[in-house]
Amino acid sequence: MGDPPDHVMRNRSYWNERAPEYAARGRAKWAGDAPTWGKWGVPESQLGVLPGELAGLDAIELGCGTAYVSAWLARRGARPVGIDGSEAQLATAAALQREFGLEFPLLHGNAEEVPLPDASFDLAISEYGASIWCDPYLWIPEAARLLRTGGQLVFLVNGILAMLCAPDEEDGVASDRLLRPYFGMHRFEWSTDESVEFHLTHGDMTRLLRRSGFEIEDLIEIRPPDGSTTSYPYETLEWSQRWPCEEIWKARRTRERP
Ligand SMILES: C[S@@+](CC[C@H](N)C(=O)[O-])C[C@H]1O[C@@H](n2cnc3c(N)ncnc32)[C@H](O)[C@@H]1O
Repeated sequence: MGDPPDHVMRNRSYWNERAPEYAARGRAKWAGDAPTWGKWGVPESQLGVLPGELAGLDAIELGCGTAYVSAWLARRGARPVGIDGSEAQLATAAALQREFGLEFPLLHGNAEEVPLPDASFDLAISEYGASIWCDPYLWIPEAARLLRTGGQLVFLVNGILAMLCAPDEEDGVASDRLLRPYFGMHRFEWSTDESVEFHLTHGDMTRLLRRSGFEIEDLIEIRPPDGSTTSYPYETLEWSQRWPCEEIWKARRTRERP
């Protein structure tokens, strides 16, 4: 394996710095048994993100952070493995494992190049992990490699319109103005910090998934219900009820990889 690309090192340093402020969020999610998704915490019962039957599934969480998604999977009988690039985020995850008495393997590494054999998993999942911090042209083929035929890929990302309307300023709030082009979207850098994100158009994502051996099963556009609250500043509830601020892709690896 060569040196990781620059975005991997930049995001590692960014997340090592941010980890302390994320620990409390992670703990709150570990403490809740019923999964809730995204910035608005919409319940699993309303979205149907996870497979109906998790018992016995081998699962990998790509960019696991504090690893609460893996904890939810483990409590439902799956065998999760979490991989993350940030030592500090993994230290929080390990502390939460001890606190909640639930252990599963945590790997330090780059989710674009996972040091595990082909066809090791039935489920690959990412909530704001590899799904936005890794280059999709690297991590999606890597997820395909890690999945068995018939395995499922589930990932949550920012909605496309949210990315086009997000101001490049600290804690900027989306308005109803498009601030950047849709065509050609891929790598996002901000003037406010060193992090690098990746977001594709729906057409490019569809073609990438299909080329990597996936059939798309669903694209859930999250619409938070009335009365929803969030601790994130980026979109108001009014905005998020008019346009999807988050979306969840579900795809199945039905074909052999090219
Ligand atoms: C917002 S957290 C999402 C994880 C989890 N849902 C949470 O909130 O704790 C983003 C995580 O992606 C990880 N990450 C960023 N780039 C990565 C890479 N190349 N490989 C693995 N993990 C990465 C970061 O270290 C961070 O812990």
